[in-house]
Amino acid sequence: MERYNIPHPEIYEIIVSEYPDNTAKQAGESISKDVKDLPSIPITFATGDTMIPVARAVTNFEVDFSKVQAFHLDEYWRYPPDGKYSFIKFLYQNFFIPLGIDQRNIHTLNGLAKDPQKEVDRYEKLVTKHKIGLVILGIGPGGHIGFNESGTPFDSRTHLAQLSSETITRDQILRGQDTPNQALTQGIRTILEADRIILIAYGEEKGRILKKALHGDITPECPASALRLVGNKVTVLVDEKAGNLVK
Ligand code: GLP
Repeated sequence: MERYNIPHPEIYEIIVSEYPDNTAKQAGESISKDVKDLPSIPITFATGDTMIPVARAVTNFEVDFSKVQAFHLDEYWRYPPDGKYSFIKFLYQNFFIPLGIDQRNIHTLNGLAKDPQKEVDRYEKLVTKHKIGLVILGIGPGGHIGFNESGTPFDSRTHLAQLSSETITRDQILRGQDTPNQALTQGIRTILEADRIILIAYGEEKGRILKKALHGDITPECPASALRLVGNKVTVLVDEKAGNLVK
C-alpha cells in the first residue's frame, strides 16, 4: 500500500501509511526537513510508545540536530528525572543523546519542583520566549495531548494537571507504573501557538480516540479537538489501522 491522504475541512493534512514503521519514517522525514531548513528550530518532544519508532526513524535521517532547542512536553510530578518512567529520561535516551542535541539547548520541566506553580511559570516563559517551531504529539486516553486531560480549557498554559482516572488506570494498572497522579504539562494554548504541529497515532484504539478529535465536537472534553482551531498548521500521521477509523 502506498500512503494516501484523508481530506478534512480543517486539518492541513492527514496521511495514512500502511504500518506504524512507515508512519514513523514519515514523521522522521518531516521532522528532519524542519531541522534542515532551520537548524536552531525550537522543538517540543513528546514521549510514549508512539515515539519509540519515531525516534529511531529521525535518528536514521542523520541530520545535524546539535543546534536544535529541545523542549519537554510533560512530566510526572513529583517524580525524579532518573525514575524508571521519567519522561525526561525517555527523551534523553531516545531523542536527545542519539540526535546529539547540545546539552545547553535542552530545556526541561523539573518533575521534582517543590513549588510547581513557580516551575510552570518559569517554563511557560521560556517556551514563549523561544517560540516553538514544531511540536511532536501523540494522543492519549480521552484525547489528551501532553497531559491536558478532558476538561482542560483551550486557553491553558503550562500547568500542574490532575490525571484523569482513565490515564491513571492506563499508567498504573495496565502499564504497571509506580507514577504519580499529577503531572506538569505544556498547556493547550502553549501547544497551539507553535508554528507547526505533527500528531502521530497507530492502531485501532488510537484511531477511535482520533475519530472523536477530528470528527466530533470541538470541545475541551476532547483536548485534541482543539487542534482543529489551528488546523492549517497541523499534520496527522497515522497507520492504516488508525486511518480506517478516521476516514
Ligand atoms: C502520555 C503522554 C502523552 C503521550 C500519550 C500517548 O501519557 N502524556 O504526551 O502522547 O500519553 O502515549 P503512548 O504513545 O505511550 O500511547
